[in-house]
Amino acid sequence: MSKTISGFSKLSKSNKIDWIVDTYFSNAEDAKTILKQYWNTNDKLQQLHDEFIENTITNYYLPLGVAPNFLINDTLYTIPMAIEESSVVAAASKAAKFWLDRGGFKASVLSTTKIGQVHFIYDGNFEKLKSFFNQVKPNLIKEAEGITKNMTKRGGGILDIELRDKTVELPSYYQLHVSFETLDAMGANFINSCLEQFAKTFKTEALTFDLFSAEEKQIEIIMSILSNYVPDCLVRAEVSCPVEDLSEDPNVSGEAFARKFIQAVNIAEIEPYRAVTHNKGVMNGIDAVVLATGNDFRAIEAGVHAYASRNGRYSSLSHAQLENGIFKFWIEIPLALGTVGGLTGLHPLVKLALEMLHQPSAKELMKIVAVAGLAQNFAALRSLTTTGIQQGHMKMHLMNILNQCGANDAEKTHLVAHFQKHAVTHNAVIEKLKILRS
Ligand code: MEV
Repeated sequence: MSKTISGFSKLSKSNKIDWIVDTYFSNAEDAKTILKQYWNTNDKLQQLHDEFIENTITNYYLPLGVAPNFLINDTLYTIPMAIEESSVVAAASKAAKFWLDRGGFKASVLSTTKIGQVHFIYDGNFEKLKSFFNQVKPNLIKEAEGITKNMTKRGGGILDIELRDKTVELPSYYQLHVSFETLDAMGANFINSCLEQFAKTFKTEALTFDLFSAEEKQIEIIMSILSNYVPDCLVRAEVSCPVEDLSEDPNVSGEAFARKFIQAVNIAEIEPYRAVTHNKGVMNGIDAVVLATGNDFRAIEAGVHAYASRNGRYSSLSHAQLENGIFKFWIEIPLALGTVGGLTGLHPLVKLALEMLHQPSAKELMKIVAVAGLAQNFAALRSLTTTGIQQGHMKMHLMNILNQCGANDAEKTHLVAHFQKHAVTHNAVIEKLKILRS
């Protein structure tokens, strides 16, 4: 039976676990054993994980895999990926190898601007608000100097502050719309601290602005927060090759492969039902690297999907063309990533992942992540338009089915060998296991 509890966060970890297992599990001792199995035996490491969030009761593991052979702008990378879906790393590795033999990936950062907004309510004359804004703007920047000093020294900081009138959509609603350059930091804390300081200065100075009436002086700050929509923090990744080099099947010409592949991309460009799944495949690659490198995958997901809808209809993030005998496949995607701050200096596996990637700057990481997304999308479309997705997917899923059925090592070896030559389906695996056991 569920029950409420007050002061839960103040309990010790062990008391929290006692309360959870006693409240929710028929076999409290078994549940406790499972929770404890996932603790790290190194107390310091466990404490680090405990302290990432509130009310930690154990760790939740994801596999960390690697996809080697990624040639990006003539540098070789092995890309770390944290993900649970069985076929993702295998597909990335296959795509990497395929393009390694065809010149690799090219990637470039198109822009790195991030956005934050102070949302406020003002009841009054817009012209007066404009002159107040113009007067206070230098002071907004000056009073945030304590926060921006170090970032400015390194070449980043506040790029601009605009006053935006949003009253057509919502009465009395205005914004300070601020653009930032945050260099190698994702910048959430920096941006939010700046915005909260702007809001304070803005509200305080309004109280003494002579042109405002008593009512106009009462600007109401609703909230100050960065935006995860970053259409001006863009990266492009691309592959291309002569069309005749595309097909690995002697019975299918490169041109036939390209035409079908491009049609699949065209469909995702105009059909939202397909575009969502197409882009989900892109995000299989992106999220896995974002997670492995300690970045915020929810922020990336939200920003990417908003970008995919920027023209009023949800559409494909990737594009393909065949021109003058050259096949080209590319993606342009907004990615606000950091390689300093946040988890990057804290989580031992994140530190290793970044070292494996040659300690990238944020811009370099943007390129690597975009390439991982493009590679994943290429692998998915190649399977979908040739063999179908299930062949490769189920092969990789075989081990999960065997584990679900409690197969032992000998049974696994036998069945993996068998399914090298036979189609994997859930039923076929169960049948084969039954026969083997009898
Ligand atoms: C599965 O995780 C991803 C795919 O569905 C992507 C796609 O359909 O393009 C295979």
